[in-house]
Amino acid sequence: MIRINDNYLKLPGSYLFAAIAAKARAFRQTLAVDDVISLGIGDVTQPLCPAAVEAMHRAVDELASSETFHGYGPEQGYEFLRKAIAAGDYASRGVKVSPDEIFISDGAKSDTGNIVDILGCGRVAVTDPVYPVYVDSNAMAGRAGDYTGTKWDGLTYLPCLEENGFVPQLPSEKVDVVYLCFPNNPMGTVLTKDELAGWVGYALENDVLILYDAAYEAFITNPAVPHSIYEIDGAKKVAIEFRSFSKTAGFTGVRCGFAVIPDELAVEAGDRKVRLNELWKRRQCTKFNGASYISQRGAEAVYSEEGRRQTRSTIEYYLSNAAYLKGALEEIGLKAFGGTDAPYLWVKTPGGMPSWDFFEVLLRYAHLICTPGAGFGPSGEGFVRFTAFGSRETYVEAARRLKKLNM
Ligand code: MLT
Repeated sequence: MIRINDNYLKLPGSYLFAAIAAKARAFRQTLAVDDVISLGIGDVTQPLCPAAVEAMHRAVDELASSETFHGYGPEQGYEFLRKAIAAGDYASRGVKVSPDEIFISDGAKSDTGNIVDILGCGRVAVTDPVYPVYVDSNAMAGRAGDYTGTKWDGLTYLPCLEENGFVPQLPSEKVDVVYLCFPNNPMGTVLTKDELAGWVGYALENDVLILYDAAYEAFITNPAVPHSIYEIDGAKKVAIEFRSFSKTAGFTGVRCGFAVIPDELAVEAGDRKVRLNELWKRRQCTKFNGASYISQRGAEAVYSEEGRRQTRSTIEYYLSNAAYLKGALEEIGLKAFGGTDAPYLWVKTPGGMPSWDFFEVLLRYAHLICTPGAGFGPSGEGFVRFTAFGSRETYVEAARRLKKLNM
């Protein structure tokens, strides 16, 4: 008899961003509306940086000739890209990461979702609100218990509230794995070096693995905020870091990202210690054939002088959108957080309105799409998230519509 993985049956509805896309589609079709502005999913709008485009064109030309053709690449990723990352993202900040500790992938979403494959059962903690991939992938693996309508009873939630400055507090119960995402999706907040050091110290003392999603590190403007968890001493013993080219260089449609699994990161397994990067390599060799050669050549070019200049200017553009929208939201009396070191604004709903209701109001009366905070976890209730990835004209128009709403 065919049996399914019935953990899937416990998942509520559809994946958050798919559910929002379906609602927006239905709204457009039913009311024949064609001016909906999406500030929901963080899909970038600025084109790929020209340095990456040129590199990808050259890569296609190579693949077009039998002399320079490339077939399957190394599962861990091409060395040229791993070297560029080790130098450009880490050595440049005084952090030693070897190219052998880097695993290229098709994005941080896949990596943060797939990493559960190499972990056994244990108590998992997530910040709340949280990027839904961490929660759903643990639920699919049977590690989240049951869904109670707002949360999973097998997970430990670390509430990030206005009252605690949206900073997660250390778990009060024993956990084995903690997901941290900074700059944070969805709240757009960051951790200071001391706060992050507190987490690393806690993980070292309590034998906890930190899964550190740094997909938005390129948006950090505050020089006191760490870009990598490995800027903290001892972190290589306890943390895996995930990064992405999606939002940094317009790779949402191209797909490329990477995970760093340090050599020192080893866990007890019976009477021996097992290095997690060996397990991950084993997993990737079996289930993954690598990001495409074209994507990897494009990603390599992001580290060139022009690539850096071009991506910097795109990021500044997105951050200026965030500042513009924040100003407009504040003008109409809404409280907005984040947006200075991240492409996300975390906005309090007017009068404590439930976040899905506010989503409906914005869609119906302003034709604007946001992401309801409750979709990110129980502590997201009373907030919505706006992204900063649109064109400036989009934000000017969004601000005009918000002002007309008269909240
Ligand atoms: C988001 O909007 O949270 C992200 O774009 C989703 C993702 O990166 O998968």
